Amino acid sequence: MVELTRDSPRVRPLVGQMLACANQKGGVGKTTTVVNVAAYLAGDGRRVLVVDLDPQGNATSGLGAERAAAGASVYDSLLRGVDLGSLIVPTETPGLSLVPSSIALAGAEVELAGVPQRERRLSRVIESVCSDFDDIFIDCPPSLGLLTVNALTAADAVLIPMQCEYYALEGLSQLIATIHLVRDHLNPALAVRGVVLTMFDTRTNLSAEVAAEVRTHLGAAVFDTVIPRSVRLAEAPSHGRPIARYAPDSRGATAYRALATELRVRLDQEAGRHGVVPGVVPSGTAPSATTALTHDASLSITVPRPHVPLDAGAGAPGGMA
Ligand SMILES: Nc1ncnc2c1ncn2[C@@H]1O[C@H](COP(=O)(O)OP(=O)(O)O)[C@@H](O)[C@H]1O
Ligand SMILES: [Mg+2]
Repeated sequence: MVELTRDSPRVRPLVGQMLACANQKGGVGKTTTVVNVAAYLAGDGRRVLVVDLDPQGNATSGLGAERAAAGASVYDSLLRGVDLGSLIVPTETPGLSLVPSSIALAGAEVELAGVPQRERRLSRVIESVCSDFDDIFIDCPPSLGLLTVNALTAADAVLIPMQCEYYALEGLSQLIATIHLVRDHLNPALAVRGVVLTMFDTRTNLSAEVAAEVRTHLGAAVFDTVIPRSVRLAEAPSHGRPIARYAPDSRGATAYRALATELRVRLDQEAGRHGVVPGVVPSGTAPSATTALTHDASLSITVPRPHVPLDAGAGAPGGMA
């Protein structure tokens, strides 16, 4: 088990939110969700930043940027003390900016292990740019190692995509255990907001059964909007474009549009509850009837504690799962 120190509560004003998109399973739709929700929110007039914390750099390429061969990536900020603001690049989508990933990040898990306050590096370096954005999305790698722990420590909330397949709930307890450890030791305010069902296949009963099971277990934590399996969504990254620019009339586009709106409703409600003025709320972007304001109970999800005692193994901050 790593040594953890407690932070005093952060005083960063809540303008929008910093969301870590996490699930240690690969291929569940983390990057697709980050890229497309971020693009729609930017299209609504919000100032949005995507931080690509995955060495694979799929958010970077999916937004049409080059994965930095040397330097000029989030790695340089985390481990070389480079100002994060200087690493931000614009994307083709107005209002949507990116801190790219690079191959160097692949070594960051190991390099961070020897750095003081290693779980708080991202939290420290991102502070200086928070006030420049309404929404910040951190795209996590498929593990519960130090990069994901850094994202959970920096974020206000975690967004968990879950693929509508048979083993959807498998591994969730490990993720929840990690969220609890981060709350207990590093970021007491970390919320879960919320679970996104992805790759729903309307042609099979299995997707519907899995979606129903996930809703039974997780209730209001699950977004109403379900993301269907869509060839267009799978194609868009190879064109370096969010779905809003690649195939705006496709089913996948409609779904991510709805998810972005539903997320906005949840964030605005949360801000209202804390008496904070939300960020830019442009006219003409009011939530549609399909995303009614019914999420009060889901704003701060209390994730049930796992029944098994945690050990120092997989899932612990600093673990290399
Ligand atoms: N709703 C969807 N329909 C079809 N393909 C999808 C969908 N969501 C994601 N994909 C594809 O599935 C793969 C994994 O998605 P990705 O978002 O990269 O997952 P993760 O970031 O969790 O590893 C990618 O090739 C992506 O283009
Ligand atoms: Mg990814």
